[in-house]
Amino acid sequence: MTSAAEVTWENTIKDYFTAKDVACMTPRGVLLDSYDYVSNQQHAQAIYIKVKSGAMPIGEPAWTADKVQTFFDWVKAGAPKGNASATS
Ligand code: HEM
Repeated sequence: MTSAAEVTWENTIKDYFTAKDVACMTPRGVLLDSYDYVSNQQHAQAIYIKVKSGAMPIGEPAWTADKVQTFFDWVKAGAPKGNASATS
């Protein structure tokens, strides 16, 4: 079942990662601007552990509990990509 408020990569998750996050992590092989990378279950788990613990993002405010939970729920839902041109 798909609700109108479904959280997707395009409508929500990609905006969780800042340009700074991408700049810091891309050289380390953690591709936070890549749906294919982040939606991988092992990569998503590693990201989740870091943001939940507050170890990442270095130098930026820790993710709120809501944001961490939304990321977790998105992964659990199969990491829907969504439509780049969708408005909802
Ligand atoms: C939400 C944003 C971020 C996420 C999800 C994230 C995720 C991760 C992950 C999964 C690792 C482990 C990589 C590995 O073991 O191969 C890591 C390591 C690292 N990240 Fe990030 N990162 C974020 C933001 C940042 C930022 C903004 C910086 C720089 C200011 C940064 C600097 C580092 C450094 C120096 C390491 C290696 C040392 C360590 O593991 O603590 N990261 N990050």
